[in-house]
Amino acid sequence: MKKILQKGLLFYPTTLEVLNMKISYKNIPESELKPKYESEDDLGFGKIFTDRMFVMEYKNGVWENPVIRKYSPIDLDPSAIVLHYAQEIFEGQKAFSTPDGHINLFRPDRNAQRFNSSARRMMMPEIDPENYLFALKELIKLEKDWAPKSLGTSLYIRPTMIGTEPGLGVRPSTDYLFYVILSPSGPYFPEGFQCVKIFVSEFYIRAASGGTGNVKTGGNYAASLLVGSEAEQYGCSQVLWLDAIQKEYVEEVGASNIFFVFDDVIYTAPLSSGTILPGVTRDSTIQLAKDKGLNVEEEALSIKNVIKGIHNGKISEVFMSGTAASIAPVGSLYYQNKEHIINNFEIGDISRELYNQLTDIQYGRVEDPYDWIVKVI
Ligand code: COI
Repeated sequence: MKKILQKGLLFYPTTLEVLNMKISYKNIPESELKPKYESEDDLGFGKIFTDRMFVMEYKNGVWENPVIRKYSPIDLDPSAIVLHYAQEIFEGQKAFSTPDGHINLFRPDRNAQRFNSSARRMMMPEIDPENYLFALKELIKLEKDWAPKSLGTSLYIRPTMIGTEPGLGVRPSTDYLFYVILSPSGPYFPEGFQCVKIFVSEFYIRAASGGTGNVKTGGNYAASLLVGSEAEQYGCSQVLWLDAIQKEYVEEVGASNIFFVFDDVIYTAPLSSGTILPGVTRDSTIQLAKDKGLNVEEEALSIKNVIKGIHNGKISEVFMSGTAASIAPVGSLYYQNKEHIINNFEIGDISRELYNQLTDIQYGRVEDPYDWIVKVI
C-alpha cells in the first residue's frame, strides 16, 4: 500500500464507499428500557451505557443495514478476525450539555477523519464522514435524556469498527461491523480537575516509527496494561512513554498527549515520528495557547531535561490533553525510583486557563470563535 506523508502524518490511500444512508430504527418496548442513573455525581467513566446503539455492517464491499437498535451483546463467531488478530479501531468523542438546553459535539469532523486514517492503516473500509456524523447525531438525539448536565460530565461516544469474518488465517477481514455506543460519564480521572501522578516507563515502549502509535487501535492500549499496573503500585494513574529507540524523548501518555511548560515555552512531542496519536484536544490546545500569545513548540524534550527542569524550576507546569482526559494537570513524574514533584503539586495558571477556555467552548458557555462546535439539538 502506497504511503503519503501529509503534514507529518502518515496517510494511506483511500477506498471510500459512499452510502446513501437511511437508518432504520428498531423500537424498544418501554418495559425493556433501562432505569436512568440516580445521580450525576458518581457516574464514573465508561461504566454505564444508554438504551440504544448504532450498528452498520460491511459485506461484499459495501456498508449496509444501518440501524439504531437496543444496546445489546454482539453475535460474533469465535474465530472472528478481531478476536485473534485485533483488527479493530475506535474513536473517543463527547457530547456536551449546554446551559441553554442544547447538546454540542466538539470537532466531530476531526474524529471522522482520524477514524478513516486508522481504517486505512489497519486495512479496514472507510466510512463516509457525513454518514459517520449523521449516525452519531441521530443516536444522540434519541438518547438525549441520558446526557448528564453537571460540571465535568458528558455523554461519552465510542464509535468502533471490528473485523468480523470467521477464520484463523492472518489477513484483512472481508466483513466488518461499525457500531456506536454512548456512555453518560463523569471525568476520566476520578479526582476531577486535580493534579495526577505519572509513571515514566523506562523499559516497555508504546510505539516505534512505522508501527501503529498514530492509530487509534485497541492493541496499543492492550500493550500498555502491564506497565499501567506497575504504575499503579507507585500510586500513578498514567504512564508516560519514551521514544522506542533511545528511550530518551518524551512522547505521550497513552490515554492522552502531554505538554510541558519549560521556560515559558509550551512543548509537546511532534506528530512526525508517526508514534504519537494526533489528538483532537492536542490540536485544539495548541491553537488556544497560540491565540493567547503563548509560544508553542512541537518538539520532543528529553526526559533528562524534563527532570532537570522540574528541579531547577524551569518546568513550571505539565499537563495532559485528550478527549476523555480533557486538560489534566500533572503533579509529579515517577522516574528512576523517585517522585519528581512539579510546581508543588499545584495546578499551574496555563493549565487552568486552557482548561477553562476549552471547556467553556465545549459546554457552550462562551461563543465558539473557531467553528469547532456542531450542535446536535
Ligand atoms: C479518549 O480520550 O477518548 C480515548 O479514547 C482514550 C481512552 C484511553 C479513554
